[in-house]
Amino acid sequence: MSARSELRFPENFVWGAATAAYQIEGAVREDGRGPSIWDTFSRTPGKVFQGHTGDVACDHYHRYADDVAMMAELGLQTYRFSIAWPRIQPDGSGPINPRGLDFYDRLVDTLLGRGIDPFVTLYHWDLPQALQDRGGWACRQTAEHFADYAVAVHARLGDRVRTWTTLNEPWCSAYLGYGNGVHAPGERDAGAAFAAVHHLLLGHGLASRALRAAGVATLGLTLNPADVQPADAASAADVAAVRLVDGLHNRIFLDPLTGAGYPADVLEHVARHVDPAFIRDGDEKVIAAPIDLLGVNYYSPTYVAGRAGGAGGSAYPGTDGVVEFLPPVGPLTEMGWMIEPAGLTRLLERIGADYPGLPLMITENGGAFPDKAGAGDPDGTGWVADTDRVAYLDGHLRAVHEAIARGVDVRGYLVWSLLDNFEWAEGYRKRFGIVHVDYLTQRRTPKESARWYQEVIARNGL
Ligand code: FCB
Repeated sequence: MSARSELRFPENFVWGAATAAYQIEGAVREDGRGPSIWDTFSRTPGKVFQGHTGDVACDHYHRYADDVAMMAELGLQTYRFSIAWPRIQPDGSGPINPRGLDFYDRLVDTLLGRGIDPFVTLYHWDLPQALQDRGGWACRQTAEHFADYAVAVHARLGDRVRTWTTLNEPWCSAYLGYGNGVHAPGERDAGAAFAAVHHLLLGHGLASRALRAAGVATLGLTLNPADVQPADAASAADVAAVRLVDGLHNRIFLDPLTGAGYPADVLEHVARHVDPAFIRDGDEKVIAAPIDLLGVNYYSPTYVAGRAGGAGGSAYPGTDGVVEFLPPVGPLTEMGWMIEPAGLTRLLERIGADYPGLPLMITENGGAFPDKAGAGDPDGTGWVADTDRVAYLDGHLRAVHEAIARGVDVRGYLVWSLLDNFEWAEGYRKRFGIVHVDYLTQRRTPKESARWYQEVIARNGL
């Protein structure tokens, strides 16, 4: 790394880390929390690696104060965490459970006490099971309930939390949750997936409107926009495949969010799978509620080719028979995801160009690598020499810097993730943390990447 050039980020660039409630909290039956779709899904045989669940996870619910102390030691300026809706409304709607709010109240105060800015995500995939029993995101009412929930959380934390984001990666919630069933609630129905896209966006819009009325200054959401590239830029078929996949992944969210409504080509595609009557008059106006920040989560690029008889992608309804998703080419992370930092520069530039005026923040970026506690650790302190993660983060930070140098408005960077945690369908076998977690003892050990990141933050650069 030392041979590479030094880079400085803009003054006021924000550094931090991100986590999500179900992935770290544990304590799933405590203080009145109701079940979420991930409790149900992880207990369904065959859904999550070796039947792992979030029952205990990193036990952050009880260890949050030590975790925050560690964040402060690392120099984090911002901490992005999510609120578990089933702690706040165990039945998904109706009565508020004050004990659920108490936890986040304590967390926020502890963060502020250490000089760390709390960055709230209201929904990171743990829908109350009671709402799923009534149709979940395929059903319009869930969007309305979401806005009520948002208001309840804000009423308690709004005096101290400045940054409010509604959804994390609605693409995953809709297409993986309702389309190919890889995530909770595990449904496999293209029509339900498209209805879920709309109701998630509507929920975002309704919640944003309510939060704005309640006085929130910095409001936004996080997407996982894809850097979709053609196998061959000179092939018209490949370029058409890019357009289709980009429509289903990016434009279906970004266009309505920024006031342009759903793109005509995407609507036409959706209508081949389901009657889009769930999009009602006025909805697009609600979805276009102004936002102050777009969170961008980026891990890996997507390469596609237009090919008759192509296998398509299970997460992209209607791409079978026309699109081939190219197998990833190394180097890969342990998830099998291609490592291509240039994809992040391209993605940021594209969003900056096509959706101008939207401040961006990297709300997740990081890598799973086969860390072994003790690697490079002769003293048995648990030290993890995760040089591959350091290289991944260094490369992606350079990519962010490049986008900024080219004029894109990127305000900050939050690493995924602070801790090793429950990686959804992969359970605990994939480790993304800059801090190692020993799940038997709950001992935390900062990896080499944590020490490296601490220095990056201290010098505001590489
Ligand atoms: C993102 C999720 C996050 C984590 C990373 C690896 O899609 O938002 O919770 O699982 O991927």
